[in-house]
Amino acid sequence: MTNIGVFDSGLGGLTVLKELVANKKANYFYFGDSLRAPYGSRPKDLIIEFSDQIVKFLENYNIDQYVIACNTISTLATDYLEEKYNKAFYPITKSGLENALAFEGDFLVLGTQTTVESHFYKNNIEANSTSFVYETAAPKLVNLIEDGVISGEKLDKSLEEYLKIANEKHIPNIILGCTHYPIIREAIEKNLTYKANIINPADNIASKLNFIEDNKSYVNIFMSEINEKNKQTIDKILACDYKLKLKEI
Ligand code: DGL
Repeated sequence: MTNIGVFDSGLGGLTVLKELVANKKANYFYFGDSLRAPYGSRPKDLIIEFSDQIVKFLENYNIDQYVIACNTISTLATDYLEEKYNKAFYPITKSGLENALAFEGDFLVLGTQTTVESHFYKNNIEANSTSFVYETAAPKLVNLIEDGVISGEKLDKSLEEYLKIANEKHIPNIILGCTHYPIIREAIEKNLTYKANIINPADNIASKLNFIEDNKSYVNIFMSEINEKNKQTIDKILACDYKLKLKEI
């Protein structure tokens, strides 16, 4: 059995889990910290502390390899976690960067405040191409998504503000720099006045991971908060059987 740990501040990492389950069979253990989401505007040391608590919990399941299904945690805590747990941690930002570098033209990174302030995508894309990278922090989106708001006027209003620069400049590529955003991809496309190339860092992620596949996948989901709304969102994202358990850490 190959045990894969996948984690995020909440529901967003399920968009990564979905790609993994669809393409590589394993025993998956997911932790989503919906009770304490969003992480993206919290102080750095707290984000590292929360990530450490998540991994400490997942370590009970004999994890062979981790996927950090959160851009915010990836940019801040990957080095810390690798050093502390001496295991492989695959940050979603690595896949995001690889996916982005396959395209030409300028980019907009839509992400949390922390991810945008890290300039991870901007620095790496600009160092490896002739593209210019615009960045927009979208702090309201994770809360809305966690609350089950994945369409409608309230979401459109926020997106109109966050996509202003893209609509003004017709930026050809938009990186969904937060794993929650693929959940509202339709709303993002609806609020663009032109056709952009939307880049989901989770695309092809399974092919980038090196592990021995099992014959069947098992999906275990732990959430620090479970309610009707987030259960509905989980069902909307995942098209597979799963076991869901409440776990506060
Ligand atoms: N899904 C997380 C990410 O990719 C959201 C972080 C947050 O909770 O603000 O950055």
